[in-house]
Amino acid sequence: MEKPICFVGLALVLLMLQACELVNARDEDICRLFSNNTVIRDPDSCSRSITCIDFVSHYSSCSGNTPFFDKDQGKCVKTLSSTSSCSISCEGVANHFLADPKSCYGYYYCSENEIAMYGKCPDSTHFNATTETCTHQYESACTTSTFEYCNIVPDNVNFDNLQGCDKYHVCTKGKLSDKTCTNQYYQASSGTCVAKALVNCDAHPNANLCGKASKPTVDKFVPDGATCRGYFYCAKQADGSPDQNPIWNQCPQDKFFDESSQMCISPTLVKCTNDRCDGRTLDFVLSTTLGCRNYYHCSGGVASAEKSCGNYFFDEELGGCVPNIKSYTACTK
Ligand SMILES: *[C@@H]1O[C@H](CO)[C@@H](O)[C@H](O)[C@H]1NC(C)=O
Ligand SMILES: *[C@@H]1O[C@H](CO)[C@@H](O)[C@H](O)[C@H]1NC(C)=O
Repeated sequence: MEKPICFVGLALVLLMLQACELVNARDEDICRLFSNNTVIRDPDSCSRSITCIDFVSHYSSCSGNTPFFDKDQGKCVKTLSSTSSCSISCEGVANHFLADPKSCYGYYYCSENEIAMYGKCPDSTHFNATTETCTHQYESACTTSTFEYCNIVPDNVNFDNLQGCDKYHVCTKGKLSDKTCTNQYYQASSGTCVAKALVNCDAHPNANLCGKASKPTVDKFVPDGATCRGYFYCAKQADGSPDQNPIWNQCPQDKFFDESSQMCISPTLVKCTNDRCDGRTLDFVLSTTLGCRNYYHCSGGVASAEKSCGNYFFDEELGGCVPNIKSYTACTK
């Protein structure tokens, strides 16, 4: 990703630096975590919602008589429940300006009849609750708020955890929990667990892949444990400990990683039991079931249920069942 280009004028260097930081923050769009058309509250404002479309944030603002966004109802409302992280009240402060607890530039004006109206300070200014004015950003002590996911994400919506291909989060009654897909990977675009081969993820769970402290794997390639093509490189560590962040890579199409030879070779020579259709151009591929009579039908890089040639043998070159004996390393003892 390209770095934002920052023009630095003669004056206002600090302002410019801040402008650049805002651009950087946007590179990390929060919507990369959410499935298509999920609606969350903007972590930076109690009055804005974000609709995630193809992993990109689309903002909407609440205004008028319904200045707040309620993430559970998914709409603009007049007041938020006191349990929300946005509790703000105009009671007793008619004709005053209050800060938006979630943003440096947002404010509320409490009208005569104690109704909050949302407003935003102009660019490069922050709202100051003491003076009730918008002041230069460089004079402001306000910093971007930290937030808790469950204050902005509705209950029971899965979202990516980014800590591993099989991991995701969900909020239940406002509490965050960590979930792990069973034998599958989490797909952020659909918000569900799916076959590993369907997820483009290189954060394969790599705990202890490079051995234990007593016997580290050094300067070697190891299988990624999730795919037949993928492998990690365990580098030598200065302190002699196992590599905790091995680099992932994968073999070209129609090759599987073979640990003993440390090479990418023909899949028929590799006993790997992960999805054997991943990264293949063939429609039918050999299974590792002993006897070499079984195969999979591949569709979109994913294997269907295992099928058998019955009394015949599976010939991977021909992609079919043949009467003469076939024997491949992948399906023999
Ligand atoms: C995501 O949703 C938008 C709007 O509903 C739609 O136009 C787009 O095609 C969707 N993307 C995918 C990958 O389904
Ligand atoms: C608001 O302005 C006052 C007076 O100028 C200043 O002391 C205070 O630090 C400002 N507050 C913030 C959050 O910037």
